[in-house]
Amino acid sequence: MTETRTASSPQVAPMAGSSGLVLEEAHKFRVHTRAYNDRAVFDAEMRNIFDRVWIFVGHTSEIPNPGDYKTSYIGMQPVIVVRADNGDVNVLVNRCVHRGAVVCRELRGNAQQFECPYHGWVYQNDGKLVAIPHAKEAGGYSEHFDKPAGLYKVPKVDMFRGLIFACMDPNVVPLDEFLGRAKLLLERRFNLSPSGEIVFRSRPFVSRYKGNWKFQAENIVDDYHFVFTHTAFIDLQAKYGDATGNFGLHPGGSASEMRKSRYRGNVWGVDQGHGILDAPALSPESFLNGRFGDYYKAIQDKVGAEEFKWVVGRGIGCIFPNLGIIHQQIRTWRPIAPDLTEVTIYPFELKGAPGEFNQGMLHAQERFYAPSGHGAPDDVEMFASNQHGLEGHAVDWLLLERGVDTDEKQPNGDYRGQPSSEACQRSYWRQWNRLMTKSAGA
Ligand code: FES
Ligand SMILES: [Fe+2]
Repeated sequence: MTETRTASSPQVAPMAGSSGLVLEEAHKFRVHTRAYNDRAVFDAEMRNIFDRVWIFVGHTSEIPNPGDYKTSYIGMQPVIVVRADNGDVNVLVNRCVHRGAVVCRELRGNAQQFECPYHGWVYQNDGKLVAIPHAKEAGGYSEHFDKPAGLYKVPKVDMFRGLIFACMDPNVVPLDEFLGRAKLLLERRFNLSPSGEIVFRSRPFVSRYKGNWKFQAENIVDDYHFVFTHTAFIDLQAKYGDATGNFGLHPGGSASEMRKSRYRGNVWGVDQGHGILDAPALSPESFLNGRFGDYYKAIQDKVGAEEFKWVVGRGIGCIFPNLGIIHQQIRTWRPIAPDLTEVTIYPFELKGAPGEFNQGMLHAQERFYAPSGHGAPDDVEMFASNQHGLEGHAVDWLLLERGVDTDEKQPNGDYRGQPSSEACQRSYWRQWNRLMTKSAGA
């Protein structure tokens, strides 16, 4: 039953010990509408979430050589991710120290220097300010000018299996600790490569939706919606089967068969805010006896028969706050406004896999997730619909209570849920609440 504004809802103003926007008590877990559509909450998220936790900014394969760079974001903050001459990866705030223009406006490239397009100030690719045009001419800078050192360098940069993360907070916990149980998920996905490495080779799919950025975080680990939101896809699968063979992310069959295949395995709500859905393959031998059997056998020899079931099984995760992994895809979503989000999908390749194998995986991605694919547009429509539904004022709270009484809390703070539980979403919101509560000065 939903509550109205006049029911016994808690106060929404920030309270000691809670942001006031997440309600957790016996048998209940609710999130307030303002968490999705309030501009003040959105602004607080940029400072208290995006400035304080590790944020994914790219993959090492995107910038293999000295001078290679890509542009990215930490929340609303544009950044440049650049490989220095000594091989280090630096993340620089992409904002000119003169008057704030975005210095680098390309998506990617190779450069020794970046020149600001506004008044021509020049920075080395490690961020150092090396030239101010016409510095002494016609009333330029005097000897008292306190010349800035250069572009602001994001204080913390670290990597996990090629994924580059950056953090604006120098006192953030180590990346390994932050990732927690999500490390195992990433390792399993990447261990489908003989060397355990992935490569971003194809250009990403980029799209925007008119909805809050956290709808994407909730949805990526939501098995509950699948057979309702994606009915057109299910009809196609039932009629024509899974045309992608072992590359298929969704086995063919009826809606009830699909539901059964999804409502199994592990659901983890990780203490650091991550969510994980993983399950061993239903039929590992189908991989060993299929078209790329020799390839899969070599992977099985490397990881062992038990682990192989998981490497070729289901593996989906949301890494707090805006990174997702779905089988052969890394996804990130960028907040632009409370009701506008940009999603970037990187289908990845497995280093050392045959070309046809990687090609098959890419086609399986396109089939469901491309802008004209059979699945992803349905989700985007739901996000916009969510946002539209929240525009009214009659009801304050959203329910995230599915499975709340069967979640098992672990000693490390993780929650293990039953299949179809909203345990992932609850752990996400708990972490959100912890960070936002500090913002309220509680
Ligand atoms: S804003 Fe960059 S040179 Fe003026
Ligand atoms: Fe979906």
